[in-house]
Amino acid sequence: MRVLSGIQPSGGLHVGNFFGAMRQQLGLQAEHDCFYFIADYHALTSNPAPGEIAKRTVGVAMDYIALGLDTEKTVFWRQSDVPEVTELAWLLSCVTPLGLLQRCVNYKDKVAQGLSPNHGLFAYPVLQAADILMYKSDLVPVGADQKQHIEVTRDIAIRFNNNYGEILTIPREQIIESAAIVPGLDGQKMSKSYGNTIEIFEPEDSIKKKIMRIVTDSTPVEEPKDPDKCNVFALLKLVASADELSEWENKYRSGGMGYGEAKKRLAELMIDYFKPFREKRAHLESNPDSVKEILADGAKRARAVAAETLAQARKAVGLGG
Ligand code: ADP
Ligand code: TRP
Repeated sequence: MRVLSGIQPSGGLHVGNFFGAMRQQLGLQAEHDCFYFIADYHALTSNPAPGEIAKRTVGVAMDYIALGLDTEKTVFWRQSDVPEVTELAWLLSCVTPLGLLQRCVNYKDKVAQGLSPNHGLFAYPVLQAADILMYKSDLVPVGADQKQHIEVTRDIAIRFNNNYGEILTIPREQIIESAAIVPGLDGQKMSKSYGNTIEIFEPEDSIKKKIMRIVTDSTPVEEPKDPDKCNVFALLKLVASADELSEWENKYRSGGMGYGEAKKRLAELMIDYFKPFREKRAHLESNPDSVKEILADGAKRARAVAAETLAQARKAVGLGG
């Protein structure tokens, strides 16, 4: 099965991103033919400084490779290295009703927040449809916020096929439901926009300091505590072995344990968990050219598939000839 997903080059991946989405995406590699790319064309809709975009793209590429993207098996590339996708987006635009895009919640939310939208932001789902349809994707693993974009993609593909013949594969989405929402330092959902994150690759002493600051209630040391209401315990669940976790559960319930003790152990476990990835990333940082080569090789592989689909789509609508 062909699995495809795009990753925004927004930088600063956090523990919530990893346990909530990336781990599942990376897990699909073992059994499926995965196509993963960094959506730098999409990032342009928020007009980042020109110097920023390439830097962030390479940074996110390093993150993914360090965290386990299999560069031999998985096709991994930078979206803008396959410019054919913008041509397919145009062909799709011409069968996309305006109303379909006007109903997109992501777009409406940004406008409601007071953002003055550019045409790229409005047309964002059409480019996303081109990403998906170009590579004849069967399954698209995404967070719940992207569900509507996959529905738009299906709708556009059906319209195209109705007009021009069965050229495009109708994809299914696969919503990544995190087993649990990962809490941030303040107990709200961990999110860049709340400034409550633990970043995967931030310095170890900074991870330790942040963990010691996690908000807990004021139950005195000697009293029993409810692990299911504790942010520290929620994070322990992600990194502790099953045996160790049940020991902590006992300590919580029987009292005599302070949150500081649990935080200290959490910091050790969190740092240990990401240590091999951190080492791999440091290695990549000292070999940025190797990352650029991986992306260039991925672009070559992606482009071969893209050229074929685009040729079929151009012929179907009656261009060239
Ligand atoms: P942020 O909220 O930091 O901007 P994104 O919206 O870019 O994060 O999230 C990227 C992916 O990571 C999404 O698929 C989302 O479901 C997942 N994710 C982000 N934060 C969490 C969290 N705290 N718990 C579980 N999953 C999360
Ligand atoms: N819009 C997606 C996001 O914000 C990124 C993306 C772009 C994408 N093209 C895609 C995801 C194609 C899945 C398939 O996360």
